[in-house]
Amino acid sequence: MTELPVARTVAVVGPGKVGSQLVRGLARAGHQVLVGARDASRAAELAALEGVSVLDPAAATAGAEVVVLAVPVTALADTVASVGDLAGKVVVDATNAVTSPVPDGYDTVAAYVAHLAPGAAVVKAFNTIGAEHLADGQVGGVAAFLPVAGDDTGRPVVVELASSVGFDVADLGGPDAVRLVEDAARLWIHLAFKCGWGRDFGFGVLRQ
Ligand SMILES: NC(=O)c1ccc[n+]([C@@H]2O[C@H](COP(=O)([O-])OP(=O)(O)OC[C@H]3O[C@@H](n4cnc5c(N)ncnc54)[C@H](OP(=O)(O)O)[C@@H]3O)[C@@H](O)[C@H]2O)c1
Repeated sequence: MTELPVARTVAVVGPGKVGSQLVRGLARAGHQVLVGARDASRAAELAALEGVSVLDPAAATAGAEVVVLAVPVTALADTVASVGDLAGKVVVDATNAVTSPVPDGYDTVAAYVAHLAPGAAVVKAFNTIGAEHLADGQVGGVAAFLPVAGDDTGRPVVVELASSVGFDVADLGGPDAVRLVEDAARLWIHLAFKCGWGRDFGFGVLRQ
């Protein structure tokens, strides 16, 4: 287990492919994880993990300081409406506009989330790698590069969370840098599906 500077209470809304792997990674790192599930029966395996509780989305987010949105972009408006006021919380947008475009009038999906959740500290993260690598932040035993950008107060919290899971985290800066994180996901998706690389890879950085 990676050293844990601060144990946080994190709600993960949407226990699908991304959400369920992230729940595993966060719980393994020692965080308290509240899974926000519309149908608890679909999250039964997660409920059995130490440090994990499965609740309805509103109850999960109410009890958490950090809320990860791991739903399709088209479900964001309904999801945010169903969980109530997110002001004062760190909200992590892990979505990608893949099968649907970035909502009209917004440069990025994260900007749309900030509009849906006024007063929340919105941060873009966990969207630039296949879901199967979110449980340990690694590919082939090597920490994967994970770019993070967004709100200045929320970003350090998310950087720390992602590092505790095992990622090689890059803090790209404020909301103006979110576009880079969403573009990095587009690059991953292009390589995976248009260039035929498949899903089993992540980005890395060479340092000297
Ligand atoms: N798959 C990847 O490798 C990957 C990687 C990075 C980012 N992403 C992005 O992450 C997001 C989730 O992708 P995924 O692959 O995890 O999708 P998924 O497996 O289809 O899971 C989607 C989850 O969202 C939930 N959901 C849908 N509408 C909801 C609502 N109104 N309220 C609450 N929960 C709702 C679903 O709940 P139910 O089970 O109740 O339907 C399900 O748990 C997408 O934006 C995707 O682009 C995916």
